[in-house]
Amino acid sequence: MKHKQVAFIGLGVMGFSIAGHLAQQGYRVTVYNRTVEKAKRWANEFSGHWAETPAEAAQGASVVCVCVGNDEDVRHVVYGAEGVLAGMSEGAVLIDHTTTSAVLAEELFDACQKQNVGFIDAPVSGGQAGAQNGALTIMCGGEGAVFESIKPVMECYAKQIQLLGVAGQGQRCKMVNQICIAGVLSGLSEALMLAEKAGLNIEQVVNSLQHGAAGSWQMSNRLETMSQGKFDFGFAIDWMRKDLGICLDQAKSYGIDLKMVEDVDQHYSVLQQRGLGRMDTSALVKAIAE
Ligand SMILES: NC(=O)c1ccc[n+]([C@@H]2O[C@H](COP(=O)([O-])OP(=O)(O)OC[C@H]3O[C@@H](n4cnc5c(N)ncnc54)[C@H](OP(=O)(O)O)[C@@H]3O)[C@@H](O)[C@H]2O)c1
Repeated sequence: MKHKQVAFIGLGVMGFSIAGHLAQQGYRVTVYNRTVEKAKRWANEFSGHWAETPAEAAQGASVVCVCVGNDEDVRHVVYGAEGVLAGMSEGAVLIDHTTTSAVLAEELFDACQKQNVGFIDAPVSGGQAGAQNGALTIMCGGEGAVFESIKPVMECYAKQIQLLGVAGQGQRCKMVNQICIAGVLSGLSEALMLAEKAGLNIEQVVNSLQHGAAGSWQMSNRLETMSQGKFDFGFAIDWMRKDLGICLDQAKSYGIDLKMVEDVDQHYSVLQQRGLGRMDTSALVKAIAE
């Protein structure tokens, strides 16, 4: 085990479980969470350590992982006197698992380079269940040698890890992922409307279709709960709107229009205004059907 000491910043739906896998696989983990109670609960559950600031958590760690909300949240825990960069030593590596803009990933790469710290942007896919089961997909951007050195750390909680190019390419691949999810959920919403009018049994529909050409993770895991009107779990609409905003900004910089993404984003905006921002993204069907 090359890296023994790891710091983990952000114990949300994803981070709490990811940091737990690291501790269970023998890493010495120190966590930081803005809401201290969660850090204490984590330290208790996984016999780890917690710190008062991101900088303190990062001290002595050869790998520092961050998994917070958006670009500004990442800047908040990385920069300044209490940010992780203030506590990191030369040769250590910062891994950002937050879904952010590629612009931020490039900015972090430069900031880390000035301190002789490695940087990998590493957004994840697989949801809460993927984090709990240690079966995430991780899309990485950065330098090959740095990536190879920290890959064994990420293998504690991932089933698929890919380096896609320089810093920022991990985040751009995550944009591709989010565009696909928006399209699949749009299709499933309209398909469900027709299936219900046709009197089809949705469990049978899923059993029948999921291994054919229309099969998808969303179909296998969400079509039945969509038909039951269950949305109080999973990947929050608030986060998806953040992600679709990132996709639309990136597309604009290339001069391309993403019409479907704009439509889906508009539906999510309506659901947010109805107070449903923490509901799972499959609630798209409510906006499309009603
Ligand atoms: N949930 C999913 O299914 C999923 C799947 C793939 C990717 N993601 C991405 O992974 C990231 C984390 O998602 P999540 O679902 O784990 O989010 P979450 O449950 O809302 O947790 C967010 C975490 O970030 C911390 N945080 C937020 N803003 C902060 C700030 N300004 N300073 C310090 N800490 C801050 C929160 O601290 P507090 O505890 O104090 O609030 C919490 O620990 C997001 O970028 C999301 O888009 C999520």
